[in-house]
Amino acid sequence: MLRMTELSEKILKKLPMEYFESIDHGYKHSKDLILLAEILVEMEMLKVDKNVLLVSILLHDLFADVGKKHGDLAAKYFKEQFSELFSQEQRAKIIEAVLYHDEKNANFIETRNKHFVESKILYDVDNMDAFGIKGVYRYIKVYASRKVPLLGLSELIAKNIISRYKTLCFESSKSLCHQAYLVALSFFEKSRELENSEYRILKILYENYHCSIPELMALVKQETYVLNSHKSINYINQFFDTLYQCYE
Ligand SMILES: [Fe+2]
Ligand SMILES: [Fe+2]
Repeated sequence: MLRMTELSEKILKKLPMEYFESIDHGYKHSKDLILLAEILVEMEMLKVDKNVLLVSILLHDLFADVGKKHGDLAAKYFKEQFSELFSQEQRAKIIEAVLYHDEKNANFIETRNKHFVESKILYDVDNMDAFGIKGVYRYIKVYASRKVPLLGLSELIAKNIISRYKTLCFESSKSLCHQAYLVALSFFEKSRELENSEYRILKILYENYHCSIPELMALVKQETYVLNSHKSINYINQFFDTLYQCYE
């Protein structure tokens, strides 16, 4: 079981307040990743260094709001702040995991195959968190705050979703998130059609992101990744119906 260790708790206590306040890349995201990692480790019967895995998950997105290459910044922060708490081997593993967690290029698969198991787990669970209903919201939130133009956005995101899924390391990851992957993908594929309700929702959410965001708050209240939420299409429809009413 993947429970927080004394060492990971110690590091957690030193992280900045913004980390705990962030909806998409902070502690909430990390907590969901830990839950997914726990499931994956069990399914694949992986042997891991818990401290390495937990600390990599906690720190990987620390500078995500700064933009691209945030893995480099997090690795540097780790080296400066916490490296003395770990053995040389652990240090190398954490730095590798954090540094390459965002490398979704298909050409990188071969290199990642040679990486430490903790790096592969972080990569998979991080991508899995971009799927499902939660993934839809994370995409909208992140791309809106990066001010990516709405025109062509659905196509851009659909491609990103496909490359995340294709480059997952473990077969168990693929089976675990397959339905959630399809939910996110179909949302953005369908939303290309202007009259489609998903597109309307996307447009509304996107344009109002900077205003009040009850839908994100509702999401935040979901403490953990809802693994089975994709099973019921009614659940999804209900969810969006409720959100849509927020703007009527
Ligand atoms: Fe990241
Ligand atoms: Fe992440």
